[in-house]
Amino acid sequence: MSEIKLPITRYYGSKRKLVERIWNEIENLGLEFDSVLDLFGGSAIFSYYSKAKGKQVIYNDIFSFNTAIGKKLIQHNTNELCYDEAVSLLEPQHGYFYKSIVQESFQGIYFTDEENEQIDIFIQNANLLENENKRLSAYYILFQSCIIKRPYNLFHRNNLSMRLNYNGGTFGNKKTWERSFEELFSRFVRELDEFTFDNGHSNFALNFNAVECLETADLVYIDPPYFSSSRNHTTYHSKYHFLEGLANYDQIPEHINYTKNNKEITINKSDKFEKSATFLVELEQVILQHNESIIVISYRNNGIPTVQSIKNLLKQCRPERKVLTVDLGRYGYALNKGNQFNNEYLIIGTNDPI
Ligand SMILES: C[S@@+](CC[C@H](N)C(=O)[O-])C[C@H]1O[C@@H](n2cnc3c(N)ncnc32)[C@H](O)[C@@H]1O
Repeated sequence: MSEIKLPITRYYGSKRKLVERIWNEIENLGLEFDSVLDLFGGSAIFSYYSKAKGKQVIYNDIFSFNTAIGKKLIQHNTNELCYDEAVSLLEPQHGYFYKSIVQESFQGIYFTDEENEQIDIFIQNANLLENENKRLSAYYILFQSCIIKRPYNLFHRNNLSMRLNYNGGTFGNKKTWERSFEELFSRFVRELDEFTFDNGHSNFALNFNAVECLETADLVYIDPPYFSSSRNHTTYHSKYHFLEGLANYDQIPEHINYTKNNKEITINKSDKFEKSATFLVELEQVILQHNESIIVISYRNNGIPTVQSIKNLLKQCRPERKVLTVDLGRYGYALNKGNQFNNEYLIIGTNDPI
């Protein structure tokens, strides 16, 4: 486990358990850098670790719900939302007319009727908070609680019934799914109190498609979606669209795909980096955009395209600089039980001459 205490994440592909190893490899190579761009930031663990190590950090992710989490953990240095105020956001305010978007559109899909009502009220109350520090804390605790209450911690299936009818087995955690928002908020407010801190830099979080992110840093960490040979690919959008909807609450109604059983919300859906056929072209674009930076790519040995083809691409983009791969050993992701026998790799483009 990491020497730096890390927030608990239940995010698909989170590098929580690997980040220390990744960092040690970067340090062992003697690479020098003061700033980090975490281009596919996800749960913000790499950004958080970099912040804890005293770097200036830029977090980025295509989804605004993730960027809210990134802003809270990386850009903000404090949490101003206390538990009592968090719980009060579950109650309707007198005189405010509440929309019922989640109750009306997602009944029986992800959460119970009572939870849907709480989500509708909470998100609208959060949006009324003028204090950004509190508003993002409110988003953080709601998104983390919603994730924890879902079977597989995902939103790609219409499977509330699986949670409600669950009667034992290997994959589920019924006790956690049934914890109330009130109870979960207590845990996540404490988490925010513990994990927000000032590292002396002005760090920030962005919300760009990676190919359009113009900010850069001394070291760019690239942890893109990943395709294995053996399975159909479920995109990050498909896994987390519901949270992206909550982060853009008023836009939900005109973005529901009614042809899908799970009523996918199409906000910020993009093919970039989510199709193996075009992955290398998009990666090349990103590498060239950050041509002066050290590039560290997280990848796996059974990926499509292969580790070697990514290494070749880096060499082709940087013919005079050293490119290397590091085998981090076997690793199985918490949310990807079938995939336990793969090796995790780093592909590193240094600024050192060959
Ligand atoms: C493998 S995950 C990153 C995990 C992250 N390093 C962590 O430890 O939690 C890939 C991330 O890329 C984001 N993503 C997918 N397509 C993207 C794009 N075109 N531009 C930017 N981010 C994208 C997804 O939202 C997801 O959070």
